[in-house]
Amino acid sequence: MDLKIIKTEAKREIQKVSDLKALNEVYKKYLGKKGKIAQVFSVLKNLSEEERKKVGKEANLIKAELEQLIEKRAKEMKERLTREKLEKEQIDVTRPGKRIPEGHLHPLTLVQREIIEIFQSMGFSVVEGPEIETEWYNFDALNIPKDHPARDMQDTLWIKQKRRENSKENLLMRTQTSAVQVRYMEKHNPPLRIIVPGRVFRNERTDASHECQFYQCEGLMVDKDISVANFKAIIEAFLKKFFTTSVKTRLRPSYFPFTEPSFELDINCQNCQGKGCSVCKNTGWVEVIPGGMVHPNVFKAAGYNPKDWQGFAFGMGVDRLAMMKYKINDIRLFYSGDLRFVEQF
Ligand code: DAH
Repeated sequence: MDLKIIKTEAKREIQKVSDLKALNEVYKKYLGKKGKIAQVFSVLKNLSEEERKKVGKEANLIKAELEQLIEKRAKEMKERLTREKLEKEQIDVTRPGKRIPEGHLHPLTLVQREIIEIFQSMGFSVVEGPEIETEWYNFDALNIPKDHPARDMQDTLWIKQKRRENSKENLLMRTQTSAVQVRYMEKHNPPLRIIVPGRVFRNERTDASHECQFYQCEGLMVDKDISVANFKAIIEAFLKKFFTTSVKTRLRPSYFPFTEPSFELDINCQNCQGKGCSVCKNTGWVEVIPGGMVHPNVFKAAGYNPKDWQGFAFGMGVDRLAMMKYKINDIRLFYSGDLRFVEQF
């Protein structure tokens, strides 16, 4: 085997290869255990002493030279790889960023938060109650006994169980946040000012203005010498902030078992400014907040002496207020899960 030829071929191949894997193959071919140089060494023993020395020396020189060459080539390749990688991974910090889609608060959440904020600024605390409620807190304690026709005003979803005589044991989906009134008063002494935002349920057919679940926000203020004037003043202050303009209000007599006297508080239609439109059915007024002075029987159910305390209560429909504020004409849109709707807020 001609060492010179081996050398030239090896050198050519080292230059020719373009990646580390191929270079490794070249290494094996020439410098590996069974490589061409090793083969030269293995036949040395067949040569004369003089020849052996000469060829052995030359083979060693070539081996060293090839090793060096391969090492150099490998280094070059590795450097090139790093350079290419760095170039590819370069970050252009001046490029405009990708826009991450932002979530939206649901309009009902927005309105509920706004209501809470306004009442908190007037010294009301926020209280919550359970959505599964007893018949007692939802009805009886609010002066609505079993045979009372007012029960029919609210179609109730009952929890499946054996009906008991004791109204504290029968469970239902609360039909009104008013249920929290006695719950709260039992545990807290007056004076008090609370609001109770929350979800309520009715066994009703749905249409553009009715849902079988919706949101209410109850209000309750109890103190000495509370009158209808306080009720009106608080509600008017609330409405002014909520609609960010002064709104006209009027109180109409109404009926609720848990208030006496009871009212409907109307505002001038925000849609047509009182001129008359389909929203206000051409009356110029819309009902927004029912309420009244807390009935003595409700105080009694809570363990208060009605001779010592007075108060007002109201229960506004959060969905209704949201509909008026954002001019939404169908309550079902709130629960449709349609992003095209939600994304507008
Ligand atoms: N709970 C009543 C309803 O859902 C609304 C209501 C009326 C609440 C008068 C009150 C009130 O606190 O005083 O229809």
